[in-house]
Amino acid sequence: MNICKTISEFRRYRRSAAGGKVIFVPTMGALHEGHGSLVRMARRLAGSDGIVAVSIFVNPTQFGPQEDFHKYPRPFEQDLAHLAAWEADAVFFPSPEEMYAPGSAMSIDPGPLGSVLDGAIRPGHFRGVCTVVAKLLGIVEPASMILGQKDFQQQLILKHMVRDLNMPVEVVTAPTLREPDGLAMSSRNRYLSPDQRAQAGSIYQALSWARHEYSGGVRDAGALEAGLSERIGQAGLEVQYALACHPETLEVYRQTVATPCVFLIAATLGTTRLIDNLVVA
Ligand code: PAJ
Repeated sequence: MNICKTISEFRRYRRSAAGGKVIFVPTMGALHEGHGSLVRMARRLAGSDGIVAVSIFVNPTQFGPQEDFHKYPRPFEQDLAHLAAWEADAVFFPSPEEMYAPGSAMSIDPGPLGSVLDGAIRPGHFRGVCTVVAKLLGIVEPASMILGQKDFQQQLILKHMVRDLNMPVEVVTAPTLREPDGLAMSSRNRYLSPDQRAQAGSIYQALSWARHEYSGGVRDAGALEAGLSERIGQAGLEVQYALACHPETLEVYRQTVATPCVFLIAATLGTTRLIDNLVVA
């Protein structure tokens, strides 16, 4: 596996590597099986002659001043072992100075989708995500980039970015990988105490309840949203939002839930923020 710490090293590697297409998985490290499912999918798409490139970069510009940038886990050696097992070919692992040279001042406006939901709660977050992913795409130049559905708003905004800015990359969204109790795998789950970890299962239980109601014909947005919030709140989490939205526009269904629909949840447990979602067709 090739480890590149600078942009020029990665570009040199990419030029020298033989033929096939490059499939890219951007990450912030602290890798888990959810990331693994993306890297494995990349391996299948790349085939044996293609290149699976993974970036590990805890991007400072997508964290707010009160957020967990400094305490975000950085177990680099473990990450490398995972990536080797998942058969990645190249790891791009730049420093913040390498990614943001002194004086670098440009950023990408995520548009209206960037200021709702997580964008309203985390101002500037999606500007930071778009900017770093645009920079990474300019370095890696992949044919395809794989993103997780777990970060639903993120994958939607990045699809808009590549479309609106005519970036020559296909964006593939991969399903959410879950723990046995349904909790979506996340690097932030390791912040949870054993008690909190048990409480966190309520998010998926609530989403499954909403899906069950929906398939039984319930379309009352207020009842579904209240049911979601109650279930998560009763487990001791602080709900930031629990909504039924259109999966392409993120428009909130205020009265009647239409098809298609995504149930979106953000909740905190102590200082840990968890998000999850479920799409119903
Ligand atoms: P990170 O949180 O490390 O996630 C990297 C990718 O893994 C994202 O596309 C995310 O949606 C996906 N992912 C995380 N948990 C998953 C799970 N349980 N199942 C499937 N996929 C999962 O998202 C980021 O990093 C950053 O914002 C980034 C895009 C790298 C830009 O800095």
